[in-house]
Amino acid sequence: MRVLVTGSSGFVGSHLVRRLLAAGHEVTGFDIAPPRRPLEPGAEGWRDVRGDIRDEAAVRSALAAARPEVVYHLAAQISVSVSMREPRLDIETNVLATTMLAQAAAEAGVQRFVNTSSGGAMFGEPPVVPADDDTEAAPRSIYGASKVAAEMYLRIVEAETGISVASVRPANIYGPWQDPHGEAGVIAIFTRRMLRNEDVVVFAPGTDTRDYVYVDDVVAAMLLAAEAPTGEMCVVGSGAETSTLDIFHALAGLTGYERAPVMGPPRPGDIPRIALDARKAREAWGWRPTVTFEDGLARTVDAFREEFEAERGG
Ligand SMILES: NC(=O)c1ccc[n+]([C@@H]2O[C@H](COP(=O)([O-])OP(=O)(O)OC[C@H]3O[C@@H](n4cnc5c(N)ncnc54)[C@H](O)[C@@H]3O)[C@@H](O)[C@H]2O)c1
Repeated sequence: MRVLVTGSSGFVGSHLVRRLLAAGHEVTGFDIAPPRRPLEPGAEGWRDVRGDIRDEAAVRSALAAARPEVVYHLAAQISVSVSMREPRLDIETNVLATTMLAQAAAEAGVQRFVNTSSGGAMFGEPPVVPADDDTEAAPRSIYGASKVAAEMYLRIVEAETGISVASVRPANIYGPWQDPHGEAGVIAIFTRRMLRNEDVVVFAPGTDTRDYVYVDDVVAAMLLAAEAPTGEMCVVGSGAETSTLDIFHALAGLTGYERAPVMGPPRPGDIPRIALDARKAREAWGWRPTVTFEDGLARTVDAFREEFEAERGG
């Protein structure tokens, strides 16, 4: 199959691109930034396009060149805190560009548009935890509201054009290659700082919980969302709640970090607790998580340690 992946240079995008190439697909990546993890030069079936998803002409020309059957849309402004400080950037990227991209994809003959939403941000503080796909969307952040709005616009594009839209609504994703310098991705940030024996800031209260899902499991959900007979929108998570302080202690154990956490102020837009019940993803896609949290954390720390040692050696 021919596919186009936006956000192909990012954390989840890099894993997805490798999986798609390994399965023999022709993959065009579209990202504003170069890959954080370059593929070997001349990797078969791979084309990499630099462009901004807010630039309609660039998007249309990439679609015309790639002639994809499936678009996996991962490019996004991904930080809750940035969304609160810079709503325009968030809304333009996550709502407007997503809608334009789906319209352009429909016109280019794309059959399935696989969107990436956020199960972690779309429900705000749900009345029942774990939240499922029947839970009312009530985001607390601009980022969460953008992800919900984008799905609503996508449903309209689907009804108007006939393109089939699926949406993967992941919990907090973690794993190797996540950016440890950003404002999101607590496991990557903590791991990097612990390996360097630097201070680790835990935003108060630290008892707030999230549902963590390993990147390979999210990639599997995206592939299933593309292959399913109908376009479905499903949360993808483990169902378990893990607190930020639990993560701190688990990672401290794995990295041998002995300092106490430095407590920071609470962050606007952050929610106190969330976990997701992925029953619908199980029924619609046959998806279930396969990597346990212990195993996923160990794999992540190993990968970050390898990078750290390579940097130190080089
Ligand atoms: N990481 C998580 O915990 C998580 C959880 C739920 C949902 N998601 C969603 O998954 C998707 C992928 O997230 P990620 O963790 O891989 O983030 P990431 O930041 O590593 O990747 C996003 C990519 O999008 C690109 N991008 C940003 N703005 C762009 C623009 N205007 N034009 C073109 N490219 C642009 C970035 O350069 C980056 O390579 C996003 O849609 C995110 O909202 C992530």
